[in-house]
Amino acid sequence: MQIIKAKDYAHMSLMAANVIAAQVSSKPNCVLGLATGSTPIGTYENLVNWYNQGNLDFSQVTTVNLDEYKGLSGEHDQSYRYFMNTHLFNHVNIRPECTHVPDGLEPDSDKACADYNKIIEEVGGIDLQLLGLGHNGHIGFNEPSDAFDKVTHCVDLTESTINANARFFETIDDVPKQAYTMGIQNIMFAKKIVVVVSDKDKAEIVKKAFFGPVTPQVPASALQLHPNVVLIADEDALSLI
Ligand code: GLP
Repeated sequence: MQIIKAKDYAHMSLMAANVIAAQVSSKPNCVLGLATGSTPIGTYENLVNWYNQGNLDFSQVTTVNLDEYKGLSGEHDQSYRYFMNTHLFNHVNIRPECTHVPDGLEPDSDKACADYNKIIEEVGGIDLQLLGLGHNGHIGFNEPSDAFDKVTHCVDLTESTINANARFFETIDDVPKQAYTMGIQNIMFAKKIVVVVSDKDKAEIVKKAFFGPVTPQVPASALQLHPNVVLIADEDALSLI
């Protein structure tokens, strides 16, 4: 694993955008695995700026997002489809039909997950997967459990994740309780993985995930076994290692 220590959030975002831009420039028809959450927002801002300056071209890029809340439509302002449209897709020349997010409105979980696994297979796998890190070590919505879930599945979100996401909804009752997420195997099959982490409140989980035992109780710990991971974190997030 390579660790890039950034000064602060802005620097972390710049470093992460650099790695993604290098991927898009070196393989214009690449498949990017993308993430939501507050951490990658600055990364997407840089990519949009560089696109506007004429330095990046997304016309041949395909994307597959990690996850989506079950029950939210793409128009709901807290859906991950909406997030991606707002922070990236609407601002660059990516073809909308080449952007993929699990279908939150598909009520049949087995179908939603099977369809998404098929999409990942059809696009030929992921060249670069961007990841944030949940406070309990989740990646995508792979929550701590007794075994690593391999492929896209429906998860019951943990109380800690529901509470962490409550800030985005009017009341805690509005926070979806389930989500569709890529599994650990889908993520581990990516050729390259970039993890972005910022802030003191992630320092403990960074230490556990990247320097503790590999266990499904800390889903991100699986990344220790991947041959091409770049952890880009600010000084605060790295303060305990
Ligand atoms: C959500 C997303 C994850 C994300 C995590 C951390 O639960 N499903 O993909 O990494 O939040 O979010 P943040 O970056 O806001 O801390």
